[in-house]
Amino acid sequence: MTLRTLDTLGSLAGRRVVVRCDLNVPLKDGTITDDGRIRASLPTLNRLLDAGATVTVVSHLGRPDGAPDERYSLRPVAARLGELLGREVGFGPEAAGDVVVRENLRFDPRETSKDAGERRAYAEEIAAGADAFVSDGFGVVHRKQASVYELAQVLPSAAGLLIAGELGVLERLTRDPAKPYTVVLGGSKVSDKLGVIDHLLPRVDSLLIGGGMLFTFLAAAGHPVGKSLLEADQIPVVRDYLTRAEQLGVRIVVPTDVVVAAAFAADADHETVAADAIESTRFGADAIGLDIGPDTAESFARAITGSRTVFWNGPMGVFEFPVFAAGTKRVAEALTEVDGLSVVGGGDSAAAVRTLGFGEDRFGHISTGGGASLEFLEGKRLPGLEVLGWEAES
Ligand code: 3PG
Repeated sequence: MTLRTLDTLGSLAGRRVVVRCDLNVPLKDGTITDDGRIRASLPTLNRLLDAGATVTVVSHLGRPDGAPDERYSLRPVAARLGELLGREVGFGPEAAGDVVVRENLRFDPRETSKDAGERRAYAEEIAAGADAFVSDGFGVVHRKQASVYELAQVLPSAAGLLIAGELGVLERLTRDPAKPYTVVLGGSKVSDKLGVIDHLLPRVDSLLIGGGMLFTFLAAAGHPVGKSLLEADQIPVVRDYLTRAEQLGVRIVVPTDVVVAAAFAADADHETVAADAIESTRFGADAIGLDIGPDTAESFARAITGSRTVFWNGPMGVFEFPVFAAGTKRVAEALTEVDGLSVVGGGDSAAAVRTLGFGEDRFGHISTGGGASLEFLEGKRLPGLEVLGWEAES
């Protein structure tokens, strides 16, 4: 079966449509720091409004504890959506109008309940009075939650333009990608990336490892890593990957130099050191690795620009601190120079490219899904897509 798209819903003029978006944006003191996900929801909302539908937007934000919590309110998001749509957007249960945003779905514990009956009852409440459901929160399709899964069963439902577009790009990464194919993985934990490494090893030509997880790779090669992030229990798994990669002829590229610091702080004393000599600086065994080094950044950039397909998930270092952002910046820049398809995975890497000032149109695609795009590339079944008729190729 293929994905049910908007056309399958027929005429929407005068119909009331519930749209599940992923408006889970980063907020600092009530201010949105990256509105990428809100902007990504606009094409579907505009399409529905142009077709004469009235729209109720539903989403989650953060992980509240199943009860109202002002820190996770969607109110600032509704305001920003109004600015971007250039029209009045109502907010809350009493609001009326062509576009209304409901409060955070996760303020009700049934949204994320393990009990299918509870989720179903919540979905029926969300659906009350509506004629159709459009699922467009790509970032949440890996969650079996009331507004993602059950809601698509209680109303005539279809995927919105964002989900259809994301799927189109991610399928190009899994079905016959142009070679050489390079995957760049960063972020703090190896354990979050095991599935994707496993699934991609036989498919890619090079796997570049940066971010906090690189230290577990260094430790697996027998190098001391000071006080850097380390998942000691993953060392045997990483060793196994290194052996498998060699057998498959895949290059796993681990940094040759890193930037280490005296502390985890924006103004920490720091220096660049060979990756196999982390404890040899003046910080000794207290050294904390916070970025890939300049030689590594250059060699990653060469591998990236020499590829025809590149997928990147996870920052190379603590890019939020400007002195430790150089590795992430260089990788981002290299992705903009790829002669082929370059895809930035969602979450932190998407936020990083925007924070570092790169125009979105310089990349082939910036996914709005962090966990969702990774699980897609792991070949997992995604409930929020299956319920819309989509089937993974086995
Ligand atoms: C995300 O940010 O990856 C999505 O919005 C999903 O959020 P969750 O991990 O809290 O389900």
